Amino acid sequence: METIDFDSYSERKAFDETKTGVKDFAIPIIDFADVHVSREGIVEKIKDAAANWGFFQVINHDVPLSVLEEIQDGVGRFHEEDPEVKKSYFSRDPTKKFVYNSNFDLYSSSSCVNWRDTFACFMAPDPPNPELLPVACRDAMMEYSKHMMRLGDLLFELLSEALGLSSDKLKSMDCMKGLLLLCHYYPPCPQPELTLGTNKHSDNSFLTILLQDQIGGLQVLHQDCWVDVSPIPGALVINMGDFLQLIAKDKFISVEHRVLANRAGPRISVASFFSTSVLPNSTIYGPIKELISEENPPKYRDINLEEYTKGYFKKGLDGTSHLSNFKI
Ligand code: OGA
Ligand code: NI
Repeated sequence: METIDFDSYSERKAFDETKTGVKDFAIPIIDFADVHVSREGIVEKIKDAAANWGFFQVINHDVPLSVLEEIQDGVGRFHEEDPEVKKSYFSRDPTKKFVYNSNFDLYSSSSCVNWRDTFACFMAPDPPNPELLPVACRDAMMEYSKHMMRLGDLLFELLSEALGLSSDKLKSMDCMKGLLLLCHYYPPCPQPELTLGTNKHSDNSFLTILLQDQIGGLQVLHQDCWVDVSPIPGALVINMGDFLQLIAKDKFISVEHRVLANRAGPRISVASFFSTSVLPNSTIYGPIKELISEENPPKYRDINLEEYTKGYFKKGLDGTSHLSNFKI
């Protein structure tokens, strides 16, 4: 019989002690309706979710339903365009402002080719000239990004407070400097047991805000179990990325997740990555000063986002953690 290592054992024990079984695991849902009245309660919930799950869903976030619908429609319209139109945007150069391709890591050692096409666009720090964006989704992308910056602003404030720091701490570290929109299209898959929509990975961002439709398939690794992120109409899924785990010294966790391939579909999702990704950026990121002391030494080596991301791309979504390479 295979023995389970200590980490797995303690996770399984923690799971056992919840006495709830796998069926009843669900990622936390946080209601932002009263965020300006009962901020402390919400900060407490975020702290718990960010520390134990790395994920939560937000409802009543103030992004209008029409804005969510328009970006989903726009993403669908682009992916369902004539192939000739899509080809004109095709590129594997991640430094380009707008690129369309399938499997950014096609030539890496990732275990299988994923059943997913994606287009990506840098919306910050320098917003694109709208004329360079496909007509199918141009207006929707500009409008959606405005709302992502607004929600991101609030989330980084609440996360700073959850770390016991001043509200503007994470923003002052330029965590919101870059915004990369990843617009995914998962066509119906005839043999979903043979591949995945997206391989297991954690995000190379500070924070990711994900909009998913009603098809489902997104799963989060929690205490050794894959837990479904059930679609909730109008909700947004928030997850911590590798950069935030690094600067927050594991007080928040960047958790692995994947998307199953599905016979139903197409499934559409939009991931807003707060990261400057491969754009030139000379800032060096290490642990937040307030979180280190003699008894609490740094846990990771300092990073440069551009180099980190290049390494992450080179490795591809092969199921291993890039962040763990920087552990001290
Ligand atoms: C991602 C991601 C999930 C989804 O873009 O990093 O995990 O549901 N997307 O598309
Ligand atoms: Ni992801």
